[in-house]
Amino acid sequence: MIHNKNDLFVLETRDTSYCFRVMPQGHLEHLYYGRRINLEQGYEPLLQKTTFLGGTQIAYSKEFPNVGLEDLCLELSSYGKGDIREAFLDITHEDGSSTCDFRFRKARILKEKKILDTLPSAYLSDQGSEPVSLEIEMYDSNYEITLLLIYSVFYDSNVITRSAKLINTSSKKIWLERIMSCQLDLDAEDYIISTFHGAWAREMNRYDTPAQPGIFVNDSKLGISGNRSNPFFMISQKNANEEYGDCFGFNLIYSGEHYAAIEVNSMGKLRVVNGIQPANFRFLLMPGDSFEAPESVITFSNQGYTGMSHNMHHFIRKHILRGEWKNRVRPVLLNSWEANYFKFDEGKLLKQAKAAAEAGIELFVLDDGWFGNRKDDTSSLGDWQENREKLQHGLKGLADKINALGMDFGIWVEPEMVNEDSDCYRNHPDWAVKLPGVSHSLGRNQMLLDLTKEEVRSYLIDEMARVFSSANIRYVKWDMNRIFSDRYSSSLDADRQKEFSHRYIMGLYEVIGTLTRRFPQILFEGCASGGNRFDLGILCYMPQIWASDNTDAICRVTIQSGYSYGYPLTVMGAHVSGCPNHQTLRNTSIETRFEVAAFGLLGYECNLTELSKEEYQIVKEQIAFYKKHRETLQFGDFYRIKTNDRGIYQWLCVAPDQSEAIGLHLQKEVLPNYPHTKFKTRGLKEETSYHFTNRQQIFSIKEFGDLINMISPIHIKKDSLVHNVIAMVKKMPGEVEDSKALGCVFNHAGVKLKQAFAGTGYNEEVRLQKDFSSRMYLWDSLNE
Ligand code: DGJ
Repeated sequence: MIHNKNDLFVLETRDTSYCFRVMPQGHLEHLYYGRRINLEQGYEPLLQKTTFLGGTQIAYSKEFPNVGLEDLCLELSSYGKGDIREAFLDITHEDGSSTCDFRFRKARILKEKKILDTLPSAYLSDQGSEPVSLEIEMYDSNYEITLLLIYSVFYDSNVITRSAKLINTSSKKIWLERIMSCQLDLDAEDYIISTFHGAWAREMNRYDTPAQPGIFVNDSKLGISGNRSNPFFMISQKNANEEYGDCFGFNLIYSGEHYAAIEVNSMGKLRVVNGIQPANFRFLLMPGDSFEAPESVITFSNQGYTGMSHNMHHFIRKHILRGEWKNRVRPVLLNSWEANYFKFDEGKLLKQAKAAAEAGIELFVLDDGWFGNRKDDTSSLGDWQENREKLQHGLKGLADKINALGMDFGIWVEPEMVNEDSDCYRNHPDWAVKLPGVSHSLGRNQMLLDLTKEEVRSYLIDEMARVFSSANIRYVKWDMNRIFSDRYSSSLDADRQKEFSHRYIMGLYEVIGTLTRRFPQILFEGCASGGNRFDLGILCYMPQIWASDNTDAICRVTIQSGYSYGYPLTVMGAHVSGCPNHQTLRNTSIETRFEVAAFGLLGYECNLTELSKEEYQIVKEQIAFYKKHRETLQFGDFYRIKTNDRGIYQWLCVAPDQSEAIGLHLQKEVLPNYPHTKFKTRGLKEETSYHFTNRQQIFSIKEFGDLINMISPIHIKKDSLVHNVIAMVKKMPGEVEDSKALGCVFNHAGVKLKQAFAGTGYNEEVRLQKDFSSRMYLWDSLNE
């Protein structure tokens, strides 16, 4: 809902209001963003009252001597007229100056969601008769330049998006040095900035920093959105928690370098700007040219982090994801990577596929290594012909045999890259990104293809379309394994080289946009060495992303918790892999690996033919369980019940209709003699009765080592033949939970779990919970 009365603009979502006004001199004063308020009786209380400017502030003009742009909450800021904070916009004019002064010219309220022309944007499929977008035209009369500020309202998601378009309406050229997508000015309070940082195999660790005078930057200079700092971040009231407190969430629909600055100035104002990274950026706009900034996303909840996360999850599921797979349950897959790396042939793959099909897996994915002369990561990227030594009957031959086993077939590609050792590079050295005459730097032995070139883009589209049509391919993992260096394109003039990074991303969107439209039946999964390009831009084309190359369940619990603040589980790929884990060498049980991966899009990435009989049987049961409950796990409401509370993590997914809920309880490290823990749900129907149970686990007697001698009449040496034989015949069923109560009991009082092993005794009433172990719990509604 968007209202405009005189100089006031109000954007309303179900629970929030966002308001600003046109000041008498034409700047836009931001008035309020937060819990929904009703301004019918006036908005006078929201105005900043300044009669005399203080200290050394600049007075905007003689006509408006009491307007000091440094100490105002604004919707848009630039340099040169007194606002000395991080700017929304920075332009160098032909005369060399960079002073800008954009003031209100007119506004248009639109009943249709404004879509960007050059970049992906959020969409509304059920446009009603209410206005949903607002376009404010700002004009700099000194330099005759126009700036459109575009706002859209996603009522049910409690999300507002912002973007901007700069149009060079003057007769002179200008250089755009910086254009942000969002600016949010608030009165600085005790806010905490939460950002998500990491590296390869260590994505999405949450860091909390107090917002205090100075500038805090969350950005990427990788060329892509990156795993060092995800574009999603939050600002919350000090002491906010999962349930209570004001919390703002921010994101950007963009896969290139992002930049967010949170500045607290000396006058008690907090500014957030969010948009394209201005370093490495400079766009030359000739008269008549325009530039579109990506769409940024903001949300607010007064119900803590969970309220904010639910807004973001709802928004992504409804207004970012699209295509046939948007609401379709995602298949359980087997990915060939960790079981084979580059060493396989058709026979080996088919053996593994057969075991997968028998275990209930629905999709077999052939990862890296199937093309050119690819024996390791030094060659063949760019040569997308199947390797006949490995695939004796080609992709089609393999796909047909996989289909005959009752599974779909999918493949891995990394189209944006080329190895120097490839026919592609030998034939088209000018397609690779490099500086002429200067030696270039490699990442994973590979170079970027120059997607700013039309010729390269159309080659990639044709080549990938050929591969995707060459067999019955139902899934594609689109990988991207290096960051940018040696940025340069021979297609750009010298004064346009800093346009390269953004033009690359626009080129990428053209390629993936064309291919995903042409192959709507294919389920695409984005990937960039795991989570190096985990962003809303990719999600506009591909409904899921491989969250991390780290498949260690104990690392994953942190990584997936991190993502969950800003992204729903339905976009996160998560696999059960072999042990010791290939990234950490840690051993975790097959159950823990499954229970963590099930809170994502479940896949297996290990050699199923080499599992013990018992483990294989467990895997079968896991898959059957997951299929039964995956609608809840993939599309339910996700709650972080506990995040590293003395090493304990508890997650909960509640089915959209609240008919069931599934919980995870994971313990990183045992706390000795601390046997009692609760699981308090959220989101169950208060007056509905639920049956509470657990996924029972079976343990080996060997878990107890030589403690077996406490009950054994004869002494048994640990790991001796006798010990192993007993372990084979005597299995120890884990504890069973079984109780009934109304939802309100589980929501408010919680359920006290069976006591954990604490060194003083064990039987079937005791929860055997070692380091790295987990349990899954279920709440089934009984009334419906
Ligand atoms: C990086 C990906 O993240 C992995 O899952 C795997 O596909 C490798 N690339 C293959 O080279």
